[in-house]
Amino acid sequence: MASATAHSVSPLIAPLSVANGLTLEHRITLCALTRLRNDPVTECPRAVNAEYYAQRASKGGLLVAEAAYVRRDGRGYLRAPGLETDEQAATWRPVTDAVHAKGGVMFAQLFHAGRESHPALTGGDMVCASAVRARGQVYVGTSKGMKEDYGMPRELSTAEVEAMPAVFAAAAKRAVELGGFDGVEMHAGNGYLLQAFLARATNTRTDKYGGTIANRARLLLETIDAVAAAIGPSRTAVKIQPGVTFSDLIEPEADVAETLDYLAPELSRRRLAYVCNSSLNGANYWRVVGLPGPNVSFDPWARFRQAGFTGTHMINGGLSIEEGERYVAEGVADLVSYGVPFIANANLRDLVAAGARTADLNPGGWNAAVWYSLDPSNDAKGYTDWPLQDPAEVSGKAVALASA
Ligand SMILES: Cc1cc2nc3c(=O)[nH]c(=O)nc-3n(C[C@H](O)[C@H](O)[C@H](O)COP(=O)(O)O)c2cc1C
Repeated sequence: MASATAHSVSPLIAPLSVANGLTLEHRITLCALTRLRNDPVTECPRAVNAEYYAQRASKGGLLVAEAAYVRRDGRGYLRAPGLETDEQAATWRPVTDAVHAKGGVMFAQLFHAGRESHPALTGGDMVCASAVRARGQVYVGTSKGMKEDYGMPRELSTAEVEAMPAVFAAAAKRAVELGGFDGVEMHAGNGYLLQAFLARATNTRTDKYGGTIANRARLLLETIDAVAAAIGPSRTAVKIQPGVTFSDLIEPEADVAETLDYLAPELSRRRLAYVCNSSLNGANYWRVVGLPGPNVSFDPWARFRQAGFTGTHMINGGLSIEEGERYVAEGVADLVSYGVPFIANANLRDLVAAGARTADLNPGGWNAAVWYSLDPSNDAKGYTDWPLQDPAEVSGKAVALASA
């Protein structure tokens, strides 16, 4: 018979003081996930979106909202939100209220799609670090069919780049003051504008924003500084994704190392709420883009620490519960963010607290038809309708294992 031996408590279920006044009660974070279920006309969140985030909220747990564009020419999707106007920002208030009602903490995510878009989405002008077109297609919903090739961006002038940090800062202020968010995460991954400046393949500029890593990182750091000045560094965060294997951008290993090594001390000094260090090195990711194996052979999370990052380190990308626990226990990570596992397991924190292992979770799966919704009459499907596992049942299994 199973004894009363309790399973050992997961290192993910331990409190963390993140920044000035921000304390989390556990380490499991929802990473930003674009789910394309906002209002089909206004693209603003509605009741179903508030329900989705509230389902994933927990006391002292951090959620990051789906990417929201900062300016119309940075729009990259149909039915993804914007934080370009006060009206858009205010529509997030019921969502953040619902998360706060459960004791949760919620950051917005700000993005500018850069070259990952189409003139039909941006309203005509498409801008990026350089005029380098992405291969691939994007949903535009035109009468010719739903998808079109990515558009050709024009290179931003130096003056236009210099003006960009203020655009992010204004959106950040709106998100916090009108949207009720606790902070803001800048999206410097997925090949979008901020990463397009960082990456050599998409940045062929010859001004102060191109060339050396210090120049290629300049816009990102200026943007972080502008946002931190607007809302405070302890409410400012960033997601980096050196080497990203999506969006027609696969950076070589040497560039990934250079970026991590350069950003580690730069981001430490800024005393941000956290840095999300996302790596898409796992098999799910390199297989999707047809690579024979991971494009980076070193451990990007350990490397960032070794390169001198002393702030709150959130790691992300294909991580199992067991890997997340190991990285936290070893001091490499402070927070672990989950995307795909959180889609199908809304009470992920409770399951892990009850002793759930990765094998106990609903696998959900790699299924774009579930991730995104093209049919507004069917938005709840694969979004808010996942059956919840009872943590008590998982707990029973964990106790039996511990005492076997
Ligand atoms: C459906 C889907 C939507 C995503 N949308 C975003 C997004 O809006 N912003 C972002 O930074 N990353 C986005 N990502 C990437 C995730 O945040 C995360 O980096 C990636 O899924 C790896 O974590 P995981 O393996 O735990 O899912 C998305 C991923 C998926 C699967």
